[in-house]
Amino acid sequence: MAYGFIPNTLPLLIILLTLFITCLLIKLARRRSDSDVSHIRLKLPPGSMGWPLIGETLQLYSQDPTRFFSNKQKRHGEIFKTHILGCPCVMLASPDAARFVLVTQSHLFKPTYPKSKERLIGPSALFFHQGDYHARLRQLVQRALSLDAIRSLAGDVSALAASALESWDGGHVINTFEELKKLSFEVGILAVFGHLEAHYRIELKKNYGIVEKGYNSFPTTMPGTPYKRALTARRKLSEILGDIISERKEKKLLENDMLGCLLNSKDYKGQLLTDEQVADNIIGALFAAQDTTASAMTWIVKYLHDNPKLLDAVKAEQKAIQEVNERDGTNSESTLTWSQTRHNMPFTHKVVSESLRMASIIAFTFREAVADVEYKGYLIPKGWKVMPLFRNIHHNPEYFSDPHKFDPSRFEVAPKPNTFMPFGNGVHACPGNELAKLEMLTMIHHLVTKFRWEVVGSESGTQNCPFPVPMNGLPARYWKQVPSS
Ligand code: HEM
Repeated sequence: MAYGFIPNTLPLLIILLTLFITCLLIKLARRRSDSDVSHIRLKLPPGSMGWPLIGETLQLYSQDPTRFFSNKQKRHGEIFKTHILGCPCVMLASPDAARFVLVTQSHLFKPTYPKSKERLIGPSALFFHQGDYHARLRQLVQRALSLDAIRSLAGDVSALAASALESWDGGHVINTFEELKKLSFEVGILAVFGHLEAHYRIELKKNYGIVEKGYNSFPTTMPGTPYKRALTARRKLSEILGDIISERKEKKLLENDMLGCLLNSKDYKGQLLTDEQVADNIIGALFAAQDTTASAMTWIVKYLHDNPKLLDAVKAEQKAIQEVNERDGTNSESTLTWSQTRHNMPFTHKVVSESLRMASIIAFTFREAVADVEYKGYLIPKGWKVMPLFRNIHHNPEYFSDPHKFDPSRFEVAPKPNTFMPFGNGVHACPGNELAKLEMLTMIHHLVTKFRWEVVGSESGTQNCPFPVPMNGLPARYWKQVPSS
């Protein structure tokens, strides 16, 4: 009987099957066309675009930017839109969102800087680029700043830190940030050129200082303005670098420093980088290295000053290293070893991490969407700026309990993935992070083993120079302590 059922229902089944397949095909076709136009249906993230033209620029600049962003985050959640400095922006305040932009979908977001700033640093510097050129340059810069490369710099960095601090002695008031900038510039020069003749160092420093002053000024080419002076000094920097490069080429020196890595690299067609590309990347690296590291070190000095118990713990750790070096009879300025900075300073490492979290020197970064992008059901339109908010993530109690308390012990446990990004994340993450850490640890060693210090004045707060720095650069008096026999 069952056989009788099959022949009788077969046409019906075929009709039903045909209908089913047709419906399925229509649904699939609809879904595909849906995704083609999905961005049209997607909504923009929540938030306000403020006033016509000026957007919310005034609100941002009339208060602490972190508070501005965190108030918006409380109201709208991890992703919200705003309009600042003439640009529509999407802000991202969660680890997942930052990872989406900087790591997993980084090809959809390109770096973006004002043209006036690109001109001063040099348009071929790697951080303005994306894709093959960026990958090639990044590999070279990373090689020059790799652990292997900077291991050999530890002794020189130690000597530079010791001699920089030497001039602080005597109890006169110094601007801690400005002094630490001198150190971070010298360390930058060391990483880029190895040992560079003094006359080149002096000329580079002089002209770099003028470029720096113009960097955050109004970009007009009117004669006499800081920006115009900066452009002239930038041309002078290219000339000085041109001389250094010619000298290297003449002497056929094959150095492993950053300049050597850049000069000796050939692409797959056997092409060398042009002198201009080399110069732009050298200026770029010096620029990326100086204020960031100096600002981080200034905060470290402040946090240690404000937390005497933590200072005692750091001192104990560093004195133990000093004693070993004294016992071995190797206690000269340059004998803090690479191995000691890596293995004998566990607590100081946590102080550095906590300082980077608290201060969040790079509070956020900018990208620009190169296409319409969907994130968690929201549209990020092509051409909009996108800003992962590092500091808001670092100060979110969900990831760091009691976030405004300076507590290095929180780093006894590794932070949750993508919540701690002082050096960024993904394809543009900081290649200089190990050098910066070496410099910070070394500075701390010499400071706490040889000096006591007092911060001058009671003004607290932060100044943006443009990186956040303690108010007035942390004026302080430093005294060298007589070693106890
Ligand atoms: C405490 C010190 C430092 C901090 C907090 C810091 C932070 C950062 C951050 C957050 C980025 C990524 C920016 C983005 O994604 O848009 C970055 C990129 C970069 N940093 Fe650092 N940095 C420091 C020191 C240094 C040093 C010492 C050097 C070099 C000697 C350096 C060289 C660079 C370069 C070349 C880039 C661009 C990388 C690329 O675009 O691929 N930085 N830095």
